[in-house]
Amino acid sequence: MSATLTEKYPNYSPGLEGVIAGISTISEIDSDRSSLQYRGYDVHDLAEHGSFEETAYLLIYGKLPTTAELASFKAVLSAEREVPSQVYDVLRALPKDTHPMDAIRSAFSTLAPFDPDYEAPSTDDAANVRKAVRIIAKAGTMVANGHRIRNGLEPIKPNPAHDTAENFLYLMTGQEPPAKTVQVMDASLTLYAEHGFNASTFACRVTVATLSDLYSGIVTGIGTLRGPLHGGANEEAMKMLLDIGTPDKAQAWIDDALEGKKKIMGFGHREYKKRDSRAIYLTKVAKELGIEKGDTRFGEIADILEKTMEERKNIHPNVDFPAAYAYYLLGIPIDLYTPIFVIARVSGWSAHALEQLRNNRLIRPKCIYEGAANLDYVALENR
Ligand SMILES: CC(C)(COP(=O)(O)OP(=O)(O)OC[C@H]1O[C@@H](n2cnc3c(N)ncnc32)[C@H](O)[C@@H]1OP(=O)(O)O)[C@@H](O)C(=O)NCCC(=O)NCCS
Repeated sequence: MSATLTEKYPNYSPGLEGVIAGISTISEIDSDRSSLQYRGYDVHDLAEHGSFEETAYLLIYGKLPTTAELASFKAVLSAEREVPSQVYDVLRALPKDTHPMDAIRSAFSTLAPFDPDYEAPSTDDAANVRKAVRIIAKAGTMVANGHRIRNGLEPIKPNPAHDTAENFLYLMTGQEPPAKTVQVMDASLTLYAEHGFNASTFACRVTVATLSDLYSGIVTGIGTLRGPLHGGANEEAMKMLLDIGTPDKAQAWIDDALEGKKKIMGFGHREYKKRDSRAIYLTKVAKELGIEKGDTRFGEIADILEKTMEERKNIHPNVDFPAAYAYYLLGIPIDLYTPIFVIARVSGWSAHALEQLRNNRLIRPKCIYEGAANLDYVALENR
């Protein structure tokens, strides 16, 4: 912000930076310690020792599940994975070059009226929890089968034995995925599940705070996540890595980019001024994957970019940077990276929507008016 604006409007923070817009018990970002906790549990522990289903349960119900609770949660998710054929009809009607983020946004819009709790008031907490579980169950099915449809293939039925990560990978490829691929996908879903008052979550809360429904909140979240300054960065980061190509070109590329004042996708974060805790874990996973697959070029390029960004700008990679090359090494098409983020984040959005509605107040900030005032109306024929 320019000095004049700061002096003129001391209470104004562009982009709401540093503004406290709510109280939440869902997750805590500690920038100084580079830590992220979901309801008091470190995300690294959840990613390494738990599963996305445990994480989703924790976010929705506020506690880690017991063995029996997890089994019954997984059974409900399995029973809810399939989606009405009308959703696929809508996806078939979209132009073939529709971005999968637009497809999943349309899919959720179409799905809403088919929810058995469609008629329930938006303040019906039990109905909202049931909706949240259905949304978490169906997101991966819709992304994967949407991918099949745009490639001229028929949607396939989820296998009830599969959890969320495996269901997505199986439907996307039509084949049982390797265990390692499932494990990396599952960990990435856990890491992507929730992140405080980020732009899409905040937008989702704004929507439900009007007493609109949970599906509208999810659709708002998807639309907000799509942009390259938010979830869309993982796709842009991969395009950048492919553009660089080989480690020997990385130094010249980053020198040029910084010289040209380019934004480096997958770097920087509004909240983390040191390292993004999720990136620390995922970088390790992505590099191990590179070694296992015999393709270490992206890890090597990443080292050069990270070192240069830290030395010159004190800016660190965010979760989208290692997620990008981890997904690439797993053979996932680039334009599914942000939709995968959706598969995970519907759990966080839902938890926030539930929290917002349990103690709701309309979200309605003010703006400073700087336009013209008190003008005399001029008749149309005289303008
Ligand atoms: C995430 C992001 C939007 C946060 O932005 P922010 O808090 O609004 O910070 P700003 O964009 O104002 O950046 C502050 C300064 O750091 C620089 N900066 C921030 N991220 C940068 C990046 N990725 N590459 C190069 N410079 C960057 C800005 O140019 C700015 O420098 P200046 O003060 O000299 O102009 C920003 O870091 C970004 O655009 N990153 C790339 C997109 C991305 O990876 N998004 C995913 C986030 S999880």
